[in-house]
Amino acid sequence: MKIFPTAFTIICLLFIMTVDSHAARENISSCLICHNRMSGKVTLQSGQEIDLRIDASKFQASVHGFLACTECHKKFDENPHVKPSEKVPADIMKISEEIKSKAKIDPVAYSACYSCHEDIYKQVLSSPHGKNITVKHKPDGALCLDCHGSPHYIVKTDNPGSHVNRKNVVETCARCHGNRNLAVKYKMGEDVLVSYNESFHGKKYHLGDRKAPTCISCHGYHDIKRVDNPASPVFGLNKIQTCGKCHKGANEKFVAAFTHKPAGPIPRITQVTLIILTLSVFIFIVSHVILEAYAEIRDAIFRKKRRTEKDESENECI
Ligand code: HEC
Ligand code: HEC
Ligand code: HEC
Ligand code: HEC
Ligand code: HEC
Ligand code: HEC
Ligand code: HEC
Repeated sequence: MKIFPTAFTIICLLFIMTVDSHAARENISSCLICHNRMSGKVTLQSGQEIDLRIDASKFQASVHGFLACTECHKKFDENPHVKPSEKVPADIMKISEEIKSKAKIDPVAYSACYSCHEDIYKQVLSSPHGKNITVKHKPDGALCLDCHGSPHYIVKTDNPGSHVNRKNVVETCARCHGNRNLAVKYKMGEDVLVSYNESFHGKKYHLGDRKAPTCISCHGYHDIKRVDNPASPVFGLNKIQTCGKCHKGANEKFVAAFTHKPAGPIPRITQVTLIILTLSVFIFIVSHVILEAYAEIRDAIFRKKRRTEKDESENECI
């Protein structure tokens, strides 16, 4: 009869464990029961090809890991994909209409960031990036996920895995601003990335200098302005303040020292002339040495020949 309490304890423990893990799963959210297991891609009616798998552990490790899926996917309700019991708030609904050209899967979820990051969302929508989407109805301007990566795996900015971490931010902007077609389409500097990389700043940045400026040190990020907008940090004399963050005593003359524009004809001509000059000096020295050597050798042979001739004639005399 001693076996009974032991078995009872084991059964109780097993029961508690099952309930526990079930509760944990409920907490992760019922959506993950399917979406953590799915694999492969599906094509939606809209023609958009999407990956349905959400990696549960990566999601939970992200800054939004504490949120229920439906905090963003407000149009969805528990299990599976039925209409929500409460209506999507009007302001979110309005934004979701405006950003349709960008969000092809769930514009409501993409607008939901607004409910917690309202000021940032407003700034982005009023920048040239946002207006490209809301006014021009194009998908080319940057919205949250273009800079922050997948909505499910966003990590803190100071995490080296973040797309906007100092280590990665230049590459993130460059995904669009290093694209020639896009630069031509919107008439905005075709050599922006090249000129940055070739500048003293870009070189220092790629060498790992923590103080060298990245794109956002001069342009900002959420509230980016067109460079011909008088409020832009790189417009005219605003640069004194922008460059002055790092260059104490920067003045009007100093701030002209950085531009993305290709160097004008004068520096190029000077450069080419300098190269030609150096080359001709080099050629002159080398040919001089060769000629000198040639003269030496010729002299030596001539002298030797003369000496043998002299020897021969002396021999004849004897
Ligand atoms: C029973 C399994 C199941 C559950 C539970 C489930 N989904 Fe899905 N989900 C799917 C399938 C299958 C698809 C792809 C089908 C389709 O829409 O073409 C999908 C597609 C999606 C999409 C892509 C866009 C769309 O409209 O199809 C989103 C977003 C999504 N699910 C979110 C959620 C959220 C949020 C929850 C929890 C509230 C959830 N899912 C729960 C099976 C499930
Ligand atoms: C922080 C907000 C947020 C949270 C939380 C969130 N999502 Fe999403 N999700 C989005 C956004 C934004 C999109 C992309 C919408 C678009 O591009 O139209 C998306 C897209 C999707 C898609 C389409 C495939 C893809 O990867 O683009 C699925 C499936 C999905 N979410 C499921 C889930 C599930 C399941 C959860 C809970 C574990 C969840 N989401 C939590 C914001 C969120
Ligand atoms: C053009 C690129 C870009 C876009 C678009 C963008 N972000 Fe950011 N975001 C950044 C950068 C870069 C940082 C980090 C800057 C730093 O601290 O180094 C950042 C930081 C943040 C932060 C941390 C707080 C802060 O202000 O530094 C939050 C929250 C955030 N973004 C949310 C959003 C949301 C929500 C959207 C969409 C409405 C969005 N971002 C769109 C580039 C962008
Ligand atoms: C329900 C509220 C909520 C929603 C919706 C939401 N966020 Fe957040 N987000 C937060 C909170 C809270 C944090 C801070 C988490 C922390 O400090 O660990 C955060 C952090 C972030 C950060 C990192 C900031 C940093 O300090 O580095 C970014 C980027 C971000 N969110 C972008 C988004 C984007 C993009 C969306 C929409 C797809 C979104 N968020 C939707 C609440 C939300
Ligand atoms: C998804 C692509 C994309 C990403 C990522 C992106 N941009 Fe842009 N950016 C654009 C487009 C497109 C325009 C032009 C919009 C228009 O004119 O309609 C633009 C415009 C600009 C302008 C204004 C240019 C002008 O003509 O005055 C600046 C400055 C700028 N971006 C800086 C940045 C910085 C800095 C980053 C990174 C933090 C960044 N962008 C990330 C696509 C992008
Ligand atoms: C985030 C900080 C930062 C900003 C903003 C910044 N710079 Fe610099 N700059 C640096 C660093 C770091 C160096 C390398 C200094 C060194 O190695 O001595 C540098 C070097 C230079 C040099 C090379 C000569 C020198 O002084 O070493 C010039 C010229 C220059 N910057 C001009 C500018 C101009 C013009 C602007 C504004 C449009 C600007 N910088 C904005 C950090 C910055
Ligand atoms: C040291 C400051 C500084 C840094 C760093 C910087 N820019 Fe600029 N950017 C400027 C200035 C000043 C202008 C205005 C005129 C010009 O020189 O082209 C400008 C102009 C632009 C323009 C508009 C060009 C046009 O002709 O319409 C874009 C787009 C741009 N920058 C993107 C970037 C990107 C992307 C990066 C990072 C790879 C970056 N910038 C790094 C200072 C900077």
